[in-house]
Amino acid sequence: MQMRRSLLSLAPVGVAALGLVAFAHPVMARRMVAEFVAPAPAFQLSGRPVGGAKAATATAAFLTGSRIATTEDGALVIDADSGNLIKTDKNGKPITTLAIGENPGMLVYDPSAKLAYVAARFSNRIAVVKVSATTLEVGQWITTPVEPYGIALSPDTKTVMVTTIADRALVAFDAASGKERWRTALGREPRGLAVSPDGTRALVAYLQTGTVDQIDLLETHSAEHVALSTAGAPRRCRHCGGSDGESFARAAFAVTFMGDHEAVVPFQRETPVQIANGGNAGSYGGGFEPPITHQLAFLGLERQRTTQATATIAQHQPRALAWDSHHDALYVAGLGTDTLLQVKNASQVGITEGITTNLTSGNHKCGADGVAITAEGNVLVWCSFTRNVEKIEVVDAKGELATTGKLDPGPMLVASALGDKQHEGFVLFHSAEPAISQGGALACASCHPDGREDGLSWKIETNTLQTPLLAGRVAGTHPYKWDGGDKDLTTSLATTMKRLGGFGLDKTQTANLAAYLVVLPAPHAPTRDVQMVARGKKLFDSAEVGCRSCHDGATYSDQTTHAFQTSTLKNADTPSLIGLAASAPYYHDGSAATLEALLRDRGAVHGMAETAKLSEQNITDLIAFLETL
Ligand code: HEC
Ligand code: HEC
Repeated sequence: MQMRRSLLSLAPVGVAALGLVAFAHPVMARRMVAEFVAPAPAFQLSGRPVGGAKAATATAAFLTGSRIATTEDGALVIDADSGNLIKTDKNGKPITTLAIGENPGMLVYDPSAKLAYVAARFSNRIAVVKVSATTLEVGQWITTPVEPYGIALSPDTKTVMVTTIADRALVAFDAASGKERWRTALGREPRGLAVSPDGTRALVAYLQTGTVDQIDLLETHSAEHVALSTAGAPRRCRHCGGSDGESFARAAFAVTFMGDHEAVVPFQRETPVQIANGGNAGSYGGGFEPPITHQLAFLGLERQRTTQATATIAQHQPRALAWDSHHDALYVAGLGTDTLLQVKNASQVGITEGITTNLTSGNHKCGADGVAITAEGNVLVWCSFTRNVEKIEVVDAKGELATTGKLDPGPMLVASALGDKQHEGFVLFHSAEPAISQGGALACASCHPDGREDGLSWKIETNTLQTPLLAGRVAGTHPYKWDGGDKDLTTSLATTMKRLGGFGLDKTQTANLAAYLVVLPAPHAPTRDVQMVARGKKLFDSAEVGCRSCHDGATYSDQTTHAFQTSTLKNADTPSLIGLAASAPYYHDGSAATLEALLRDRGAVHGMAETAKLSEQNITDLIAFLETL
């Protein structure tokens, strides 16, 4: 394996999508030389524990959406790959299966009513499923805004709430009638949802904003943004060149409460690291501190004030999360590293690292995407790669936490909907391996979570280039990269792995990865006024406005480069406009935070099109159309 020194920096542009979080721009010393540093510890808390002297009170599992929930006689899992809801017995053996629809989100289970609520992400509804010992049957469909994902029940189980990704809302429904009760606007790319045991508030995790939202459930239903702290972790990079040394919180898929006043959010801390002199100036990542580390934020939610402590963890892309209130043990696992972390006394001052259990069975990676706790306090893990449930016995015969975890994998529950090649590509996309990045620090999904993007702009050589949206934009859009420098997809992947300091996947694996990228489902378009969209389309199509002269065809791209006036990139490849509502910030350098900014102020790219003559109404209409692509 080749050792590479590399360059990475983050441009301070268009990053705080909500515009609510202020980031400092510390000036870094340029003198020191980058050094190799030891890998991250298993669990290292920085900041004072936010928990109390005693363990927090119990939290019902249905207050938090997950991919897996325990039932009285086994478990329920929702498989995003095949779109099936599966009921298993206590040993993870399949009992029955119910098709929910393409790319489902999370589920919750109400054990007293024996009802499961499943977010059917791509059909814009919640499936309310009657669960019996041997059957699953849809009792009711509740229509939601576009792309429901996170789901939770109120403590009295009378209200079901969902986060909707494309329509950016938290919506509450009467669980019995399916009638909408209220909705609250959210920021871009909301994901996981949890409700506090006392029912006073909900928390929403985000892919891109660097915040979690705290929503008042009692009266106002208004959302307050809480910035996830990226400051706490020790700076192990000794030479972070340039003035862009700040870090950003990204990819928070999950959140859970531990009692009424404490919550946990796993997230990614993305740090710009740049070698100012020497090194492999054309690459990002690797060489010294990985630019992305994995964190657990502990939020103390008191009435007027939020406190926070953050732990660095080794679990890559952590999004499987559950708290065992009885033993006060927290469990976290991720897609990129096949381990389950236990945190003991999780809600107390005496919080400590517990055992770590390897989740790989045979030589198959699990790809943990959900955890649930059994009545005894053992752990069930939903493996999204192998589509089986693994039971990890963490409780001994006396019912106390054991000193080791015993892995007991169940059988595969359902076939993947992907072909073999795409499935291998799917696993590779989420794998943090030395073939892909130096030291296996980064996976493709680190910067392209959910096949989308982290909303950040990276400094590569002399350019500032934002992470592009992949979902729906890869097929038929060659050449690749912002400068159109890579003629086809496999070339593009090879240069990407080189930049990441990886030694490279072999030909077959690279082809499989490419095969997966082209089938990533495009983001669904948000709901927009039909007439505005029609007027916007007319403008877009008109010769006068002229967008079509470059943004044409199925992907809205002429697949050639154009030279505009910009400070960095000389020639820019016309990007596809598919999924535009989910691809902010805009332009190669992310210099236009919103479409409005792109059309009105043009960001740092000048000369693309003449929009100055368009009226306010024209611009609003055009944006409405663009957001539906
Ligand atoms: C460190 C963050 C990061 C990681 C990790 C990463 N990417 Fe990217 N990706 C980017 C950025 C930034 C660009 C734009 C670079 C450019 O245009 O030169 C990009 C561009 C791309 C493109 C070109 C898209 C287009 O429309 O032109 C593809 C395809 C892609 N990445 C796939 C991958 C795959 C597959 C992996 C894993 C092997 C990966 N990326 C890992 C940040 C990342
Ligand atoms: C001369 C060709 C050309 C014309 C005409 C043109 N574009 Fe573009 N467009 C491009 C190129 C090239 C880029 C990338 C520029 C960059 O990032 O530096 C781009 C970028 C964009 C982006 C940003 C996409 C992203 O994901 O970041 C949007 C949105 C867009 N164009 C919309 C429009 C609209 C709307 C019009 C008509 C008002 C238009 N374009 C006219 C070539 C063109």
